[in-house]
Amino acid sequence: MKRILVTGATGQIGTALIPALKQKYGSSNVVAAGHKKKPESGLQDKGYYETLDVRNRNAVKRIIKEYEIGTIYHLASLLSAKAEADPQLAWDVNVNGLHNVLEVARNRECKVFHPSSIGAFGPTSPRDNTPQTTIQRPTTMYGVAKVTGELLCDYYFQHYGVDTRGVRFPGIISHESVPVGGTTDYAVEIFYAALQEKKYTCFLNQETRLDMMYIPDAIRAAIELMEVEEEKLVDRNAFNVTSMSFSPTELANEIKKQIPEFSITYEVDPVRQAIADSWPNRMDDSAARQQWGWQPRYDMDSMVQDMLEKLSVKLQEV
Ligand code: SER
Repeated sequence: MKRILVTGATGQIGTALIPALKQKYGSSNVVAAGHKKKPESGLQDKGYYETLDVRNRNAVKRIIKEYEIGTIYHLASLLSAKAEADPQLAWDVNVNGLHNVLEVARNRECKVFHPSSIGAFGPTSPRDNTPQTTIQRPTTMYGVAKVTGELLCDYYFQHYGVDTRGVRFPGIISHESVPVGGTTDYAVEIFYAALQEKKYTCFLNQETRLDMMYIPDAIRAAIELMEVEEEKLVDRNAFNVTSMSFSPTELANEIKKQIPEFSITYEVDPVRQAIADSWPNRMDDSAARQQWGWQPRYDMDSMVQDMLEKLSVKLQEV
């Protein structure tokens, strides 16, 4: 088989996706590429690793040619709060980086997975049961770049036949690595704090309801969408997918069931609160369910239990 390239390999999704792809397709068929130097230890240990700045098209081209890549999971991107802090860099990495990947994919006939996000919606999108096709006027650079990415991927499919596919991920909760610079990061930080300090100060207000997904479901969503027969897809690059939707209070209450002494306080960060306030409460993911059988396996209850179990083991090992 032609190999699979994962950009953004050291990020929150990449760190979990790479072992899953290696298990499914074999280690020698997966190439990890991240902007950092090869990690000294960890899941990327075995197998190919390349340091890559996706803004450099020649570097993207070299890796895709050298490793005979047939499929690209293009995850390299700045998250929402980081993108607001440096919108120029965010455009460069998130849009120009994707454009480079699509151009090389066009010339070398690669399939491309590119994640969009709840961030592709804005304050004028319907907040509840947000349809897949609706008003999208995001007010963040992250969102502007995500909408552009969705459209670029559609364009490369329609005009050049590049097999592009993508989902709109909600906030992702994972134990493999911590997200950096995102608005939904609280939903990961809270678990570390609950286990280590028994208390957490949240940067979003207690009522901020957002879509979320546990990492095993996110990994499965990406791989399942890439594997489904093309004929089944009516849409391509902007499938709403979600597993659960909750507020910080609801998550804290669920954690308290396992760790009764846990407590939460709030110190709202106005930048991240404004971003979260512009995003949906809950997306409608019926198109993904109908077209490629998307079905989450974790709800808040089972996610919290599994996160606490996995993270306790991890923290004891450190
Ligand atoms: N998790 C992302 C963020 O918070 C949203 O897609 O930026």
